[in-house]
Amino acid sequence: MNDPARLDIRPADPDEILSALALLRSEFPRAADDYVAYLPPQVMVLVAMLDGSRPPVGVVFGRPSTSSGSERAGLLQFLVVDQAQRRTGVGEALVDAFCQKSRNCGSVKVQLHYGAVTFGSERGQQLTAFYVRCGFARAGSYMERRVDLL
Ligand SMILES: CC(C)(COP(=O)(O)OP(=O)(O)OC[C@H]1O[C@@H](n2cnc3c(N)ncnc32)[C@H](O)[C@@H]1OP(=O)(O)O)[C@@H](O)C(=O)NCCC(=O)NCCS
Repeated sequence: MNDPARLDIRPADPDEILSALALLRSEFPRAADDYVAYLPPQVMVLVAMLDGSRPPVGVVFGRPSTSSGSERAGLLQFLVVDQAQRRTGVGEALVDAFCQKSRNCGSVKVQLHYGAVTFGSERGQQLTAFYVRCGFARAGSYMERRVDLL
């Protein structure tokens, strides 16, 4: 487990976006290219920096405030942690930070498309375990976490 004091999670500086996209591409090459092609202006990119050194060891891409029925919801789109830093708490810290930012933008919950959790496979079970650990529960075709009481 990384010492939280060594980990800084913050919005990516403009010159860090390329590193963030490289991390995304390392895990999801095709999706990364598609995503860059339509990158919505409201996207939030949070990076996790370890000991203040570059490049980032993790990244989350998402939209902190979208309309979901009558409520506002953050939409978590991509989350990637550098392989060498997995299972040290970086992923959970990024999710928590994205949830807090979404809350600050007026969202009452954060959602992610359940299909993105590769339903049915062994990897899907691991991802589901991760997001459950982060406070998410299945809600139809989404997994979601309430953030209004954060
Ligand atoms: C999913 C991912 C972001 C998790 O990041 P991480 O930094 O390794 O996760 P954390 O260390 O914060 O894990 C927190 C807890 O979640 C659970 N968890 C995380 N990864 C898990 C796995 N592979 N299998 C089972 N449980 C897991 C554990 O309970 C873990 O706590 P523990 O290590 O004390 O047991 C990372 O594995 C990753 O980048 N995967 C590839 C990209 C991806 O699939 N992204 C998600 C879809 S967009």
